[in-house]
Amino acid sequence: MRGNSVLLIIGGGIAAYKSLELVRRLKERGISSRAILTAAGSQFVTPLSVSALTGEKVFEDLFSLTDEAEMGHIQLSRSADLVVVAPATADLMAKLAHGHANDLASTALLATDKRVLMAPAMNVRMWNHPATQRNVKTLKNDGVIFVGPNDGEMACGEFGPGRMAEPDEIADAVERALSEKGGALSGVKALVTAGPTQEPLDPVRFISNHSSGKQGYAIARALAEAGAETTLVSGPVELVPPARVKLLKVQSAREMLAACESVLPVDVAVFTAAVADWRPEIAANSKIKKTDETSSRALNLIHNPDILATISRGKKRPQLVIGFAAETDDVIAHAKAKLVKKGCDWIVANDVSPHTGVMGGDRNTVHLITAKAVESWPELDKREVGTRLAERVAQTLHGQAA
Ligand SMILES: Cc1cc2nc3c(=O)[nH]c(=O)nc-3n(C[C@H](O)[C@H](O)[C@H](O)COP(=O)(O)O)c2cc1C
Repeated sequence: MRGNSVLLIIGGGIAAYKSLELVRRLKERGISSRAILTAAGSQFVTPLSVSALTGEKVFEDLFSLTDEAEMGHIQLSRSADLVVVAPATADLMAKLAHGHANDLASTALLATDKRVLMAPAMNVRMWNHPATQRNVKTLKNDGVIFVGPNDGEMACGEFGPGRMAEPDEIADAVERALSEKGGALSGVKALVTAGPTQEPLDPVRFISNHSSGKQGYAIARALAEAGAETTLVSGPVELVPPARVKLLKVQSAREMLAACESVLPVDVAVFTAAVADWRPEIAANSKIKKTDETSSRALNLIHNPDILATISRGKKRPQLVIGFAAETDDVIAHAKAKLVKKGCDWIVANDVSPHTGVMGGDRNTVHLITAKAVESWPELDKREVGTRLAERVAQTLHGQAA
């Protein structure tokens, strides 16, 4: 850990005194700290103590001419390897969850290009409040890492979750976050597709499917968290893109193929999207009118390009091409046939029959099919499927057996 540094933001809570100890614990591990003290934080610990322990000037004011001349607030936000907020007050979490930037701490949190680790500390009712819990969820979704809070007796005399994690626990979490900085997939370029495609019939109608995009988004998140430079090509879905992932939004299969090709070359591509196999031969320029109440109307469908096969067999083929097979019967047999037909390296097969709840749900039961073997994974949260797949990708790209 030697040579690493953190930007420590000390918020306004009683637990601020523990952050002084945290600075010492980090120093013992070879990690240096530079601190921002909020106005409320300075009611609990003095800038002098923080400065004496960090051995650095303490930053407090967004509009300080001298500070800005010495180190601009944007530069300050990026000056360290990790941003640590301890204690993370309910207020600081709310500000970051909603994108506020009205003081130095919140501005630095919004401007940083580094990971953020929060150690919350607050009264148990403040922690359990639905507003705080909503903010925690949003922040986790945005990639913020949390340590604690722990259960215990509070300074206010109440008991429950809300005590800030101990300095050693926070220092452990800092080390973990710093070691993930150069993750198993750092230096790797990844492409992921997700969601359905929509194939227009006219300006107001389209053919599509029930894909929610959750599995593809979870895979993109896991690859990015493992350090891969990840682009997510997504059909129309209602999901928040994961942190540190470049999002390209598309509507139709042809747009999805063009977007994927624009991202090549990559090292690994995961084709999770439920691409429509067919599209209406003619997409009318204006709304098709219901002219006759009685007669039926034929819809002529033509094949869409096969994105997986096109990229698997293309000149810029990624080193590892992974397809998804959504099946409703003979899942493994169909997936094995698809592996050969499409020329990809692996197929992740899942049963999307309505009774499984996979389409739109949060859980998935998949089989990983390679040229050599079929590996059946237990039912997992889609995020866990993403994490496992990212681990397998890392092993394979680093030369270990798939
Ligand atoms: C004695 C005292 C203790 C406080 N302790 C906490 C705390 O542990 N956690 C918290 O979220 N807010 C606590 N607050 C409220 C915050 O100080 C207040 O919300 C402040 O605006 C936070 O500012 P900051 O987020 O910029 O540091 C406390 C307030 C007082 C007066």
